[in-house]
Amino acid sequence: MLYQLTYASRVAKALGPSDIKDIIQASKHNNHAKGITGMLCLASGIFLQQLEGERSNINALYRHIQRDSRHQEADILDFAEIPYRRFGAWSMGLMTATTENEQLFLKYSSQASFDPYTMSASTLRAFFDEMVHNVRWITP
Ligand SMILES: Cc1cc2nc3c(=O)[nH]c(=O)nc-3n(C[C@H](O)[C@H](O)[C@H](O)COP(=O)(O)O)c2cc1C
Repeated sequence: MLYQLTYASRVAKALGPSDIKDIIQASKHNNHAKGITGMLCLASGIFLQQLEGERSNINALYRHIQRDSRHQEADILDFAEIPYRRFGAWSMGLMTATTENEQLFLKYSSQASFDPYTMSASTLRAFFDEMVHNVRWITP
């Protein structure tokens, strides 16, 4: 059964580019082995990640990620069965806040700054749909 899990968390301390590189490298390696695909966004000190794959694998990965001391306050925002993968080509893509994509973040926010904790499941899905169609902003 193919499932999708979306969660948000807050960075626990100031993270440098090497922290993000480590996260993405580990993600690509581990996720590929487990048939998990997805996307990680980082903006305004908040991580927003969408994971897709076998339900039990997604649950196990989420438990593993939750224990990572680089972030805290992980909240599940959406968990649902999906008919197909959105990020089939990416074991883990990364999108960070740049002036170029700031407008995309704000398009889906009711707040002045990007705050996925306040976004509905349907808004989150629309946000990820638009992201996947704007591959020029994404580092696969
Ligand atoms: C926001 C965030 C997202 C992460 N996403 C993943 C992921 O999708 N896949 C993964 O294997 N590790 C992910 N990690 C890293 C894991 O927490 C962990 O450091 C990594 O899997 C290596 O684990 P290990 O030291 O037990 O091998 C993420 C970490 C953070 C902070």
